Amino acid sequence: MAHRTPIVVGNWKLHKNIAEATALVTELKNQLGTVRDVEIGVAPVFTSLSAVAKRVEGSNLLLGAQDCFYESGGAFTGEVSAAMLLDVGCQFAIVGHSERRAMFGDTDAVVAKKTRAVLDGGLRAIVCVGETESERDAGKTTERVGTQLSAVLEILSSDDLERVVIAYEPVWAIGTGRTATPAQAQEVHAFIRKQMAARFSSAGEAVRIQYGGSVKPDNAQALMSEADIDGALVGGASLKAEDFAAIVKASRPAR
Ligand code: PGA
Repeated sequence: MAHRTPIVVGNWKLHKNIAEATALVTELKNQLGTVRDVEIGVAPVFTSLSAVAKRVEGSNLLLGAQDCFYESGGAFTGEVSAAMLLDVGCQFAIVGHSERRAMFGDTDAVVAKKTRAVLDGGLRAIVCVGETESERDAGKTTERVGTQLSAVLEILSSDDLERVVIAYEPVWAIGTGRTATPAQAQEVHAFIRKQMAARFSSAGEAVRIQYGGSVKPDNAQALMSEADIDGALVGGASLKAEDFAAIVKASRPAR
């Protein structure tokens, strides 16, 4: 199996003002500054990006935004473009988070457009997919995830793949403390990997797939030891430096 460097990202959601965000990132640098075998990223709120960018410069921490609009400029009150995210020092943007899909009208088509804009703007994209509890209960997990994924696959070319990460985040596991079991997560990750390989063969197979949804220090290692889980997108536990650092360390490849 191809070697895939794990990638662990903290999605800080609507938490941490500038002072709190810079304090957290400083602590993360202290605790994780020497880790080289895991890619590590943080995604603060827009208003903290500039301050956090200054702290992560020259470090092993990547900076990202939690969303990105698909237009590059114009009359779009409240939105931020990929070029602006690059300008402030971001290397990546998260798109299609289930909270955006559920509360802010991000349809599969919008997520695809945002993904394209992020990549065209020179950033890496973390594209989130995942089923709701009722979709899982109805046996529609792969159908839903498959639909979300195909919308994005349609706008990707093989040249984009190195800058794409897929995050599988079952909606029922986000912020609930109810993590998918490693086997449940692996099953969907394997499905996603198969779809990627069917479309892009080995380059598609090499795309990293993060798991997200109540990842904590005590469940990270079991999840990461599954064959197709290549890291984590972490919400709640990313707000505490020790917890996030423990998750990163649990994601290090076995040597
Ligand atoms: P959680 O959030 O770790 O708090 O469940 C994950 C996410 O929404 O990315």
